[in-house]
Amino acid sequence: MQSISQLQVLINEAIADLKYPKSPKELYDPISYLMNLGGKRLRPVCLLMACNLFSDNIHKGLKPALAIEVFHNFTLMHDDIMDNAPIRRGKLTVHKKWNNNVAILSGDVMLVEAYKLIMQVDPKILAEVLTIFNDTAAAVCEGQQIDMNFETIENVSETDYIQMIRLKTAVLLAAALKIGALTGGGSQNDAGLLYDFGLNIGLAFQLHDDILDVYGDPEKFGKQTGGDIIANKKTFLLIKARELASGETKKQLIFWINSTEKTDEKVIAVTKIFDDLNVRQLAEFEMSKYAKKALQSLALVDAKDHKKNNLKTFAEDVVIREH
Ligand code: IPE
Ligand code: IPE
Ligand code: MG
Ligand code: MG
Ligand code: MG
Repeated sequence: MQSISQLQVLINEAIADLKYPKSPKELYDPISYLMNLGGKRLRPVCLLMACNLFSDNIHKGLKPALAIEVFHNFTLMHDDIMDNAPIRRGKLTVHKKWNNNVAILSGDVMLVEAYKLIMQVDPKILAEVLTIFNDTAAAVCEGQQIDMNFETIENVSETDYIQMIRLKTAVLLAAALKIGALTGGGSQNDAGLLYDFGLNIGLAFQLHDDILDVYGDPEKFGKQTGGDIIANKKTFLLIKARELASGETKKQLIFWINSTEKTDEKVIAVTKIFDDLNVRQLAEFEMSKYAKKALQSLALVDAKDHKKNNLKTFAEDVVIREH
């Protein structure tokens, strides 16, 4: 069995070897730029870990793992335009370094590059893998649109939020794990269990991302913090704060939600309200709840316990990460 860091090296080398056409430069340069800024490579590593549960030949999972990572990076390129984000992985976002049109079209062609890679999976499972990939890609777009819609809707419930992050984030991790299981020759039942593992870990992962967007160290996080507060993103923190606030605190919170100016002050004031209401703790509790649920699905997978250690460690790390 390969260690998590060995799998990361394998993915990073394969990403560095990916070739894109040279011209026009404005279309293809941003792809190499973003792909080579690093990133944790969680999704492709998860795919290989799932493959490795059932097979020693993890190379069978390599092309779909790359496809998922290229797809993920495409979503980031467009997400940064939509979220007006200046920094990604500690460097300028593509739309800031170039411009919006470049980021839109480069992102589009990245989706095509992702499909070219997924097409190289073992032909015996191609139809099934493509179906998962298509369903997942559409779900991510649905989640992203709902995330944007929520910016201007006030009464978003906790259930609405979980459904939104399930679509924009969790299904991709789930798909990576399921595709990994299929490439490794795992049964439908085990592939389904790994999908559930990924879904719950994905929910924990996005809850943590929302916490880090307020409380993370920008150096380690690699993104501007406070962006979700500025954009009135309906994160678990904001939903809980709205629910718990009363009196003067509630007035203040509503004032800042309606304000589009003085963004630095807004971030400080809303963070203070979050602190006073202890919503960070509630979000952390929720995150741990989903991570535990994920581990329950993993426990049911028909594989030797020691083979599951990588995925277990990964699930435990998701709740303590700093970036
Ligand atoms: C960022 O994903 C988008 C979210 C779903 C929160 P990652 O945190 O996995 O980003 P990279 O690939 O490691 O940069
Ligand atoms: C991103 O959610 C989900 C996708 C990119 C599909 P966020 O908007 O929270 O991701 P970051 O924080 O910009 O990485
Ligand atoms: Mg977003
Ligand atoms: Mg974003
Ligand atoms: Mg975020």
